[in-house]
Amino acid sequence: TTDTGTSGLTLSFNPVAKSVADALTVPAGYTATVLMATGDPLNNATPAYSNLGTDDAASFEFRVGDHHDGMHYFGLNTAGTGIDSGNASNGVLCSNHEVSEDKGFMHATGQSRPVDADLTKGVDADVNFARPTTEIDKEVALHGVTVVNVVKNGTAFQVNRSSALNRRINAATDMELTGPARSSDLMVTAHSTAGTNTRGTINNCGNGYTPWGTYLTCEENWAGYFYRREADTVRTAKEVAAFKRYGMSNATSGRYNWSRPGSSDTTDLYRRWNAGVTSTTAANDFRNVANTFGWIVEIDPFNPTSMPKKRTAFGRFGHEGCWPAKPVVGKPIVFYMGDDSRNEYIYKFVSTALWSATDANAGAAAGDKYMDSGKLYAAKFSADGTGTWELLSLSNTKVATYASYAFANEADVVINARIAADAVGATKMDRPEWGAVNPLNGEVYMTLTNNVSSSGRGSAAVPLDAANPRYYSDAKGTTTSKGNVNGHIIRWKESGGDHAATAFNWDIYLFGAQADAAADVNLSGLTAENDFSSPDGLWFSYATPGLLWVQTDDGYYTDTTNCMMLAAVPGTVGDGAETTINNQGVPSGQTAVKTRAGKKASTTVLRRFLVGPKDCEITGIAETPDGKAIFVNIQHPGENSTSATDPTQFTSHWPAGGSARPRSATVVITRNDGGKVGV
Ligand code: FEO
Ligand code: CA
Ligand code: CA
Ligand code: CA
Repeated sequence: TTDTGTSGLTLSFNPVAKSVADALTVPAGYTATVLMATGDPLNNATPAYSNLGTDDAASFEFRVGDHHDGMHYFGLNTAGTGIDSGNASNGVLCSNHEVSEDKGFMHATGQSRPVDADLTKGVDADVNFARPTTEIDKEVALHGVTVVNVVKNGTAFQVNRSSALNRRINAATDMELTGPARSSDLMVTAHSTAGTNTRGTINNCGNGYTPWGTYLTCEENWAGYFYRREADTVRTAKEVAAFKRYGMSNATSGRYNWSRPGSSDTTDLYRRWNAGVTSTTAANDFRNVANTFGWIVEIDPFNPTSMPKKRTAFGRFGHEGCWPAKPVVGKPIVFYMGDDSRNEYIYKFVSTALWSATDANAGAAAGDKYMDSGKLYAAKFSADGTGTWELLSLSNTKVATYASYAFANEADVVINARIAADAVGATKMDRPEWGAVNPLNGEVYMTLTNNVSSSGRGSAAVPLDAANPRYYSDAKGTTTSKGNVNGHIIRWKESGGDHAATAFNWDIYLFGAQADAAADVNLSGLTAENDFSSPDGLWFSYATPGLLWVQTDDGYYTDTTNCMMLAAVPGTVGDGAETTINNQGVPSGQTAVKTRAGKKASTTVLRRFLVGPKDCEITGIAETPDGKAIFVNIQHPGENSTSATDPTQFTSHWPAGGSARPRSATVVITRNDGGKVGV
């Protein structure tokens, strides 16, 4: 049977065909306009971006960052000082910038690197290679968040460069640590001997927002930024266990080698990216710096001088996003979170404070009330379609008595939340990325981008399970590593409709697949008009309740189509039937699993809306409160270019075209007849 959705919405656009063209395609009757690309100035004093790598490093403090990712639109009040949640023509857009591009399109001659370095892997190849500080400074500034006033001018949105709200937050910005890990011994650094502060936010991937009108940026795979080359014996066993659980071996140089500037650094601004102990003096002890990354960061978009706060009660992991359930007066505030690595967990935070309607849009002060105290849980999915939320706290004996790691206190639990989730037996997922809560019925959706056997899925340590049931090669049979190569979207309904509940029911909403794949791989019955691979971004419209947007970050189907965005009208948990996943073979020693899948997805309820330019990822979506404009981020077009300077070696020239270096950008999409987008 075909899912007709629960909302009665009708998708009103003609589906966009799959494409490998170097172009952004939207349906007929729609217009997509570039709002802000990497390097664009955010005030009137900063010159236009050359896009030739010749721009002054200091100017990047006031330029749009790189690798645009999660984003949110906040309506602006008439005074320009706070939120007006209904303002669809004048707002503050907050956009994440996940990383700075690796080949060095922002540097005149590309990123300096050892001659033998692998272009696709950054400068990490040579442990002793020193980086020019001018390059590091640009790269640091291109990370983080852009906060910018956007104003509707006629039918199109434009950046208002004159706004005092415009701001960049980057990998060097001063931040405060709040919650259970504040002032912990594990947070003490040379920069903050009280363990209350740190500098910078990195790998800002998915995002979130709060019911009180603030923005949340999420620190994803931050571990890759740290240099650590030291004998494990110079650390305690607990320190080594924590480093390794978070992916910091003792043989890593860090993604950009920021810890090795070519000139002396007397401020530890660069050396702090070394997670080791370089001498016995306190000023050279960087062992805890990495503990100050991996958090949810709250930003007040209406106060450009406010210091961002890292909310440690939400746990430390590879945060992909942080999505609130609809607040209910007298009940806790609840946020759902993914940990974007293969075989990691899904989490939720339940506040101690109960929601008061007077805090709606109250601004940053409410963050201290709702975000610094609460319960952190990890999800456990059972084969019978039920699940439980397992408490990560010393009050849970599984955590308190965990044999592999003796937690010292609650600060240690949130700092090493992944280890606490190991202790409670949470379910290892196929790369949990974005979540979204259906405003019509409170059901929670989360993308599981993909997994492969070379990352563990199907091994004895990470066997197939009902929530992560797939193990197959892609339809072309060219993938030597089997697994869940196209990803899926899981969803659950909290017990009693209460987001603070500790039990839930779940099923699998949608399985990614190629339309031409065998029926036992194309489990959702996808067609040429809606087939996709590797779901990542996810957003339930609040202007059009029941409309779900799905974005992809794919590498398996990109010979046939660039990454895309689809519109969906989902049904409900349990609307499908139990299915045995044949998998075209299962790992030795394992049997095929059964799972509960949603109804098949015809083009009536799932339809391709957009295809991006070459080698991009589609990630990040925001909308105006009237649903008549959506903002979509196009991340890293031309990612597989083999030169930063030779245009003939670029795989994309988007958005400028011609021989231009490619740039990440935010686009605004509107309907030519002025109607709501998608329906
Ligand atoms: Fe940065 Fe999780 O994609
Ligand atoms: Ca993502
Ligand atoms: Ca991704
Ligand atoms: Ca990416």
